[in-house]
Amino acid sequence: MSQAEDPRIEELRARREAAMLGGGADAIRKQHERGKLTARERIDLFADRGTFEELDPFKTHRCRDFGMDDKVVPGDGVVAGFCRVDGRPTAVFAQDFTVFGGSLSGANAEKICKLMDLALKTGVPVVGLNDSGGARIQEGVVSLGGYAEIFLRNTLCSGVVPQLSAVMGPCAGGAVYSPAITDFIVMVEGTSYMFVTGPNVVKTVTHEEVSSEDLGGASAHATKSGVAHFRAPDDAAAVALLKRLLSFLPQNNAESPPVKVPTDDPNRVEERLNAIVPADPNKPYDIKEVVRLVVDDGDFLEVHESFAENIVVGFARLNGRPVGVVANQPQVLAGCLDNHASTKAARFVRFCDAFNVPLVTFEDVPGFLPGTDQEWNGIIKNGAKLLYAYCEATVPKLTVITRKAYGGAYDVMASKHIRGDWNVGWPSAEVAVMGAKGAVEIIFKKEISQAKDAAAAEAQKTAEYRARFANPYVAAEMGYLDDVIEPKQTRPRLIAALSYLSTKRDRNPPKKHGNIPL
Ligand code: HXC
Repeated sequence: MSQAEDPRIEELRARREAAMLGGGADAIRKQHERGKLTARERIDLFADRGTFEELDPFKTHRCRDFGMDDKVVPGDGVVAGFCRVDGRPTAVFAQDFTVFGGSLSGANAEKICKLMDLALKTGVPVVGLNDSGGARIQEGVVSLGGYAEIFLRNTLCSGVVPQLSAVMGPCAGGAVYSPAITDFIVMVEGTSYMFVTGPNVVKTVTHEEVSSEDLGGASAHATKSGVAHFRAPDDAAAVALLKRLLSFLPQNNAESPPVKVPTDDPNRVEERLNAIVPADPNKPYDIKEVVRLVVDDGDFLEVHESFAENIVVGFARLNGRPVGVVANQPQVLAGCLDNHASTKAARFVRFCDAFNVPLVTFEDVPGFLPGTDQEWNGIIKNGAKLLYAYCEATVPKLTVITRKAYGGAYDVMASKHIRGDWNVGWPSAEVAVMGAKGAVEIIFKKEISQAKDAAAAEAQKTAEYRARFANPYVAAEMGYLDDVIEPKQTRPRLIAALSYLSTKRDRNPPKKHGNIPL
C-alpha cells in the first residue's frame, strides 16, 4: 500500500497546476480562437525541450482596488524564465493575454525586471514575446512605473546582450517603447499591432479613419515605418524566426558570434558572378543574387526586407562565421542612399559593431537621392548617421565595390578612409566623384556649348572621362582599394580576408558616448 502523499507536496502540485492554466480554460480557448497561442505554448515552441526554468510562477498582483482582491491569478499575466535555445542559455518572457489581457501590473513588471537583471549579469540574450493590453488600468501609476523600470533595463542591456521582441498581439501606448528599444522586432501578420495612439484617438485628433491593422499592423510597420524588422505569418513562424536570428548572434558583447561547422566549400568560385554586372552602367541587377552566390549555402537572413529596399541588410555566414551584410540594391532607386536607407543601414551597422559581427559591404551606389523631400526630411543628418556608424565601427570591415562608388556615398560605404580593413573592387567598379555624363556636363560645359557638334563633343569627353575614372584602377593605384578581384573569386577572397581579420583589435578614444546625429 502506498503511503499518503505529504499534503504540503500536494498543495505545491495543486498551486503549480493552477499557475500553468493562466487565465483558465475559457480564456485559453478564446486565445486560440483569435489565432494565437498562449504564453506557455509559445515558450514551449521556443525553448529546447525540458529546459525552461521558470521564475516567479506564484507571484501575484497586490492591487486591492476595483474588486481586484478577488481576481488573483498565480503568475499574474507573464511567464518568465531561462531556457536553452539550440543549447544556448536564453532569457525569455511571454505576456499571457489570458490573464487580464496580458496587461502590465507592478508585480508583472517586477518579474520581467528580475529576468532582465539576471540576463545582464549572466550575459544572456533577452527575448520578449509581447501580447498585452498595456498598462494594468486598475493599478494606475504603479503600472506606469513598471513600464519605466523595463525601459531603463532595455536601455542598460542595449549593446550588452542582444534583445529580441516578438509582437504577437496588441502593443499600444507607451508599451511600444520597450520593443522599440530592443534590437529586433518580429510582428505576426493579422494578429499583432503597435501604435502610440489607437484608431479612436486618431479619429478624434486628426479626423482620419483608419483600422488597427492599417495603422499599426505588421504590414504597416514592415513597409512604411520600419518599426518591424521581420513579419511572420503566425506565432510558430515568429518563434522559429527568433531562433534563427539568435543563431547568428553572440550571447553578449564580450563574445564572438557562434561559428557553425561549414557545409559549403570555402574555395567555391562562382562563375555566374563574372557576368552578373551588365555592361550598361544604367542597367540594374539584383544585389541579393550576388549576396546569395557568395555566402554559405546561399543562406541569407534579410532584415527589413520590405523597408527601404534600395539597401539590403541581413545576416549570413562565410565559412561558418556569421557576418552582417550591407548591400546597395541597384534594382531600387538605382541603389541611391535616401533617408530610410541611411537610418536602416546605420542601425544595422551599429548592432553588428556592438555584438562583434564583422561587416561585409557590397557597394553599388550612385550617390544620395536628390530632392526636396529628401533634403527637408533630413538626408544630411540621416546620411550622417550611416557615415557615423561605419566610422565608429571597429569590427572587421570588408568592402567589395561591384560597380558605382560615387561621391560622398563612396566615402560612407566602409571606404578605406574610414577604417575599412579590406577594400576591393571588381573590374566593373567605378570609383569617381560622379557618373561620367554628369561630370562632363559640368567640367566641359563651355567646350561642349562652343563645339560645332555639341553631341559629338559631349560623347567624346564622356568616353575620355569614363576611360580615365570609371574604373577601379585609379583608387587601386592610390591604395584606396587593396586589390581588384575577379568577381568569381569573391567568396574565397572574402573568407581568406575574414580569417586574417578574425584577430583584429581596434578601439575608439575613451568617451562617455559619442553624439550620433539623431
Ligand atoms: C486591465 C485589461 C486591459 C488593461 C485588457 N484587459 N486590457 N485589464 N488593464 N489594460 C482585460 C479585459 O478587461 C478583459 O478582461 C481581457 O483583458 C481581454 O480583453 P478583451 O477586451 O476582452 O479582448 P479584446 O477584445 O481582444 O481586446 C483587446 C484590447 C482591449 C484591444 C487590448 O482589451 C483594450 O482596448 N484594452 C485596453 C487597452 C488600453 O487602453 N490599455 C492602456 C493603454 S495605455 P475579462 O476579465 O473581461 O476577460 C498604456 C500606457 C503605457 O498602456 C505607458 C507606458 C509608459
